[in-house]
Amino acid sequence: MSGKFITLEGPEGSGKSTQAKMIIRHLAELGVEAMYTREPGGTALGEEIRNILQHNQAGEAPCERAELLLFEASRNQLVEKVVRPALQKGIWVICDRFMDSTTAYQGYGRGLPVEEVKAIHHFTVNGITPDLTLLLDLKIKTGFERIAQRFLELGESADRFEQEERSFHERVRQGYLTLAEEEPERFRVVDAAAEPEAVSVNIWKIIEEEFLTGPKCRAQ
Ligand SMILES: Nc1ncnc2c1ncn2[C@@H]1O[C@H](COP(=O)(O)OP(=O)(O)O)[C@@H](O)[C@H]1O
Ligand SMILES: [Mg+2]
Repeated sequence: MSGKFITLEGPEGSGKSTQAKMIIRHLAELGVEAMYTREPGGTALGEEIRNILQHNQAGEAPCERAELLLFEASRNQLVEKVVRPALQKGIWVICDRFMDSTTAYQGYGRGLPVEEVKAIHHFTVNGITPDLTLLLDLKIKTGFERIAQRFLELGESADRFEQEERSFHERVRQGYLTLAEEEPERFRVVDAAAEPEAVSVNIWKIIEEEFLTGPKCRAQ
């Protein structure tokens, strides 16, 4: 049986990285092999692109469409080098951000035409679309409060996206919710405001229902 491909989406600080790791731990307890990866990045080339995108490594901010294509380059590398081979071996892939991030940030956030952005994804992912996308929905203010706390604790500094104005992030959040409404089969919206353990319980219910006990599971 091929592995399942689950992506985590949502605004900054919504708990994607935290929950991705909890999902993998949970799956491991059931003896299901799962791997974590993230976007942009996840491959050597992708991590280089991540540096360019998030920290202005080239000393010049990318133009809007160049930015989008850099994300897509990183994504295709991840799909072909990591995601497809893992799924073929039966390994589940839990990906911290994927194509919907680009639609939300570059499409809804920056204002690039959403349908064109989606068409580019179709080309990039080359048949590898998520079996399930968990949208961790959270008020922008709450997400930023969490991140500010992390900065204080770890001495990290904000990346190019975290520095965007509030209205940009509000458009991103609404964009994500629109995507979830358009594709209810693939998306599940999770309230990310609760404690990490409570969010994890809700996510696990969804995964069980989708893949371990529900009708889709029995159909396999
Ligand atoms: N449900 C939660 N409630 C409170 N704080 C959280 C929760 N989930 C994560 N955090 C904390 O908020 C910060 C951002 O979480 P993270 O998982 O890195 O979010 P993301 O990957 O979506 O940006 C981290 O410091 C993390 O420990
Ligand atoms: Mg994260």
